[in-house]
Amino acid sequence: MAEKLVIFDTTLRDGEQSPGASMTRDEKLRIARQLERLKVDVIEAGFAASSNGDFEAIKAIANAIKDSTVCSLSRANDRDISLAAEALKGAQRARIHTFIATSALHMEKKLRMTPEQVLEQAKQSVRFARNLMSDIEFSAEDAYRSEDDFLCRVIEAVINEGATTINVPDTVGYAVPELYGQFIKNLRSRVPNSDKAIWSVHCHNDLGMAVANSLAGVKIGGARQVECTINGLGERAGNCSLEEVVMAVRTRRDYFDLDLSVDATHILAASRMVSQTTGFVVQPNKAVVGANAFAHASGIHQDGILKARNTYEIMRAEDVGWSANKIVLGKLSGRNAFKQRLQELGVQMDSEADTITAFAKFKELADRKSEIFDEDILALVSEESVASGKEQYAFVSLAQHSETGEMPVATVVMTIGGKEVSATANGNGPVDASLKAIEVNVKSGAEMVLYSVNAISGSTESQGEVTVRLQNSGRIVNGVGADPDIVVASAKAYMSALNKLHSQADRVLAQG
Ligand code: KIV
Ligand code: ZN
Repeated sequence: MAEKLVIFDTTLRDGEQSPGASMTRDEKLRIARQLERLKVDVIEAGFAASSNGDFEAIKAIANAIKDSTVCSLSRANDRDISLAAEALKGAQRARIHTFIATSALHMEKKLRMTPEQVLEQAKQSVRFARNLMSDIEFSAEDAYRSEDDFLCRVIEAVINEGATTINVPDTVGYAVPELYGQFIKNLRSRVPNSDKAIWSVHCHNDLGMAVANSLAGVKIGGARQVECTINGLGERAGNCSLEEVVMAVRTRRDYFDLDLSVDATHILAASRMVSQTTGFVVQPNKAVVGANAFAHASGIHQDGILKARNTYEIMRAEDVGWSANKIVLGKLSGRNAFKQRLQELGVQMDSEADTITAFAKFKELADRKSEIFDEDILALVSEESVASGKEQYAFVSLAQHSETGEMPVATVVMTIGGKEVSATANGNGPVDASLKAIEVNVKSGAEMVLYSVNAISGSTESQGEVTVRLQNSGRIVNGVGADPDIVVASAKAYMSALNKLHSQADRVLAQG
């Protein structure tokens, strides 16, 4: 029987650390449910000690998720570990993931600790964590640039203290596949108790080799856990992409000979949900989930595909969820069809009243747009949490006037902490005027560093999806808004970014 490869998803932790990708509690919960549907083995739900918001999100995920292990990151200190354990209390299966840097550079310059102090702290933290639960992962941050002898001593010691998974990150994306694979193999052969833990890889994509390095860590090194994220979201150039690793191991089972629990048919929905929530657009030629991944434009390819699919296709589009996603809803679709689609998309509304409100919005949208795609539904339910008064800033209505040769003017009505306010402003264009009208009341002082509009489903009849990136006091957030009217979509995106700035005000970064 083939051995199992554990899929550890860190979209909600490492992915969220990518500038602008911060998510609200409800957004994280929705994605966690989709990850459970995808049957990932471990969901790293966040870093409990980083902020109250993250603590609450992990707690909500721990209480809701039944099938996957729920994990929290923690630095190697008692306070972080206790907070992680506290947030995970309600989980059916919980894991604490504690880490400390082991490279000379990080120990000296960042931690200002000697190697002996790091070794002691690593041991002490794993011992402390192990008294709180049995599933403990230890990561040696910047492991790939660490000195081998020291790394072996740390790993042996933490396994003796009870660590059950040993993660060997290439934190800065410096590795190349063959060397990284050999590195893991060498560590496993040198650490005397290496067979007492599962070995894990965690690779960043700075040189575009995160997936190749992870797979080499598995094939050459014998690692049996891969840490990865949906769409490869993550610090800087990102992390190892879950969809690529899963499909590589599945498609090339002849080579890897490993079993996976993942149900790949939910990959596309997960990819879209993460992209829509974070505002990180998926490039069209991205493997597995890009819009062109299964599109054959050239005549020769189309001809080949019509004669025999495997002439140009090594995977079937439907195996990763493409065909399922073509189902569209319209004006005549009833509440049951809507509810079923929500369920298929992994969206669970908080109450029947929320479902009724979302359905009313769906009907409103269907009056303005003949076909409703999954992206439209996801956009609509994302807005639902805003409209339900859970957020500080919520859109109510907008009126604007623009005419050639005249200065555009906009009036925006919104709620701030539940109280309705309105303001009028002029701007260069209707979008600029609307955002200035919002700022009359909010006065955020934030700087806009990105504004982009994308047609959700292709045509001019489709909804415009706007992404806004704001920066304030060193914090960067993305907001996403969708509406057939792109000025309204812009106002909603702007408010969504303001809400994230508001809710992330107290956050501490993991690798700071
Ligand atoms: O990249 C890294 O080293 C990490 C650790 C915290 C696991 O994300
Ligand atoms: Zn990382």
